[in-house]
Amino acid sequence: MIVAKNQTFYLETEHTSYVMDILPGGMLRHLYYGSRIGEDSLAYHHLLQERSMSPLMMAGDIPASADTIPQEYPVFGRGDYRSPALMAEGEQGRRIHELTASGFRIVEGAVLPENLPCLDADMDDAATLEISLKDRVTGVEILLYYVVLEKEDVIARHAVIRNATGGPVTLRRAASLAMDFERADFEFLTLSGTWARERHINRRPLAQGVTAAASRRGASGHQLNPFAALVGKHTTESEGEAYGFAFVYSGDFRIEAEVDAYDSTRILVGLNPETFSWRLEPGEEFTTPQVLFTYSDRGLNAMSQSFHSACRRHLGSCARTHGSRPVVVNSWEAVYYDLSEERLKEFIRNCRGLGIDIFVLDDGWFGHRDNDRSSLGDWYVDRKKFPEGLGGIIRCCHENGMKFGIWVEPEMVSKDSELYRSHPDWCIHCSGLEPVESRHQLVLDLSRAEVVDNLFGQLSRLLAENDISYVKWDFNRNLTDNGSAFLAPGRQGEHAHRYMLGAYELMRRLTEAFPLVLFEGCSGGGGRFDFGLLYYMPQIWTSDDSDAIERLKIQYGTSMVYPPAAMTAHVSACPNHQTGRTVPFYVRGAVAQMCHYGYEMDAGRLSETEREQVREQIETHSRIEPLLETGDFYRLENPFEGTLCAWQLVQKDGSQSYVCAVIQRAEPNPRGKYIRLRGLLPEKYYRVQPLGVTLRGDTLMHAGLPVLLPKAEEDNGPRQEEYAAAEFWLACVRRGEEE
Ligand code: DGJ
Repeated sequence: MIVAKNQTFYLETEHTSYVMDILPGGMLRHLYYGSRIGEDSLAYHHLLQERSMSPLMMAGDIPASADTIPQEYPVFGRGDYRSPALMAEGEQGRRIHELTASGFRIVEGAVLPENLPCLDADMDDAATLEISLKDRVTGVEILLYYVVLEKEDVIARHAVIRNATGGPVTLRRAASLAMDFERADFEFLTLSGTWARERHINRRPLAQGVTAAASRRGASGHQLNPFAALVGKHTTESEGEAYGFAFVYSGDFRIEAEVDAYDSTRILVGLNPETFSWRLEPGEEFTTPQVLFTYSDRGLNAMSQSFHSACRRHLGSCARTHGSRPVVVNSWEAVYYDLSEERLKEFIRNCRGLGIDIFVLDDGWFGHRDNDRSSLGDWYVDRKKFPEGLGGIIRCCHENGMKFGIWVEPEMVSKDSELYRSHPDWCIHCSGLEPVESRHQLVLDLSRAEVVDNLFGQLSRLLAENDISYVKWDFNRNLTDNGSAFLAPGRQGEHAHRYMLGAYELMRRLTEAFPLVLFEGCSGGGGRFDFGLLYYMPQIWTSDDSDAIERLKIQYGTSMVYPPAAMTAHVSACPNHQTGRTVPFYVRGAVAQMCHYGYEMDAGRLSETEREQVREQIETHSRIEPLLETGDFYRLENPFEGTLCAWQLVQKDGSQSYVCAVIQRAEPNPRGKYIRLRGLLPEKYYRVQPLGVTLRGDTLMHAGLPVLLPKAEEDNGPRQEEYAAAEFWLACVRRGEEE
């Protein structure tokens, strides 16, 4: 709900309030964000004051320092020395601004950022506040949008900057969100790592100065996810405060928290100003990407659940993809580039009867690609490997009860490709310099419409001419040589964003043209795991690290923001190809079960016992899937802190639950462990399998479940006892059936 009274705006969700007002003189002041409160006047709360070494401004007839006023869209040059949200050079070439609020409107439903991924599905209950600001220096107009989602406790913000002046204006900075807190007792929580080690949880205290998470890679990246949270020092999964900010964008970003000398904290979220500028001709507008934020006073898990719900209900493809998703077998770790029609047909026949839904042919099927040095850009089948085209393989899939999926990496080009030979200038490059190669490939300049058109043409032909149900869309390097030979010198700073707009346009056209195809995002594993990509593709290959024990941390960290239903995980062969570790088959299955599921191995190498396990795992997964799609996810035991990792899915009505606990390092003479469940109905009784006991919800949540880890299998090598898993099913029993 949005209420406007006495120049004050109250944005209210089920558990939170966000309050701001317009000061006499027109400055838009931030007043409060936190647990739900009444619609009191909060003017008393902020003490307008004067500070040494900060110039005075007048808020009406009250003298105050701009430097100490909490703001909604701060600017530079008139006494606020903290980082600004906006910097726009007008005709004077100066970067100073003074913004005053010039109006507002409240709109039923959502006002969406055009041509950008955003929350757009099922938005009838949403309400939007639009506040207009005008810059007295340049004449630029700014529209701030706040889309309020009551049930999810999420607010989405974006800004539109309009050049209402008579001459060109160049944006140097255009944040999507700024928010000031009059406190600094926070830790900055980020999801950080690198290739094969994505989204590990990192917490560090804020101190005076700037703490930031950012990317200049042309992709959100493996290293720092476009998300950060401000959390209390004592915040845990179930207790304490957490403010979460997630950017709906897949390219360069910057999220910073700046603590000033008076212990106030400014958070800024937006396009990375280091790699961004944008020239606006008179009358033109620039729209920033959307950022989602939420507040929880019930710990990190409640913050995560708000993001999960907003994503599953409102975010593009995630909201529109209903029902069960296919169990996949992917060729990559099984055969890599060693592809031939005969070999793959054998591979497919070996999957018969296991319950797998789709065979996905990974890298190496096109052009003449025998390794990673050629053919990206040539999206037609290699007839030497597949004399019948893809038809033979697809038929073989159908004969063996599976559909067919395919891998592509549309944004890239190899120097050894027809596409590069015909259009050497289509790659991102800087004239006079050899473009930098990474994984022996170059990036196509998707800021150019003809490049997007060519890729759409090639890929839509591939999808129209073949019965393809699933596309894995990879992106295996980051951008260098930034800029475009086709942009004017004064517009080079637009390239990083224009690249993303081109990539999104290609994704939009393809996903709209082939609505029945399931698209999976991927970027060397999880290098572009963000809400921007999830808008187009409802699931993302979480990491190239398929080792089950490494995946505990990766999946646990990823769930901080993204719902398990957005992650994919496969059981792969052991010794694992990334770590050399051997983990029992059933543990590998248990770890992957919390995500959309599959296998990354040659079924021909499975023992009979393992084949039976595959069938059972797929059966288990079909029971978990409804919880994955609509249930609540709880993190119970933190793999970053102890030997045990545990998580739980609970159906929204509390009637069913699935719990998975994994021991990630054996200890001698081990301690007993009880995991306390969450989200159950306290007074209802649950049958707990395989323990065969019936217990009340409150007993399970407070006394907990003993983790009696089953004895590992006998036939899987000597190190097997190092890792173990236990899975539990809970189902509410009817009154009278408690015994
Ligand atoms: C990186 C992906 O994450 C892998 O799963 C695989 O598809 C390779 N690329 C293929 O080159």
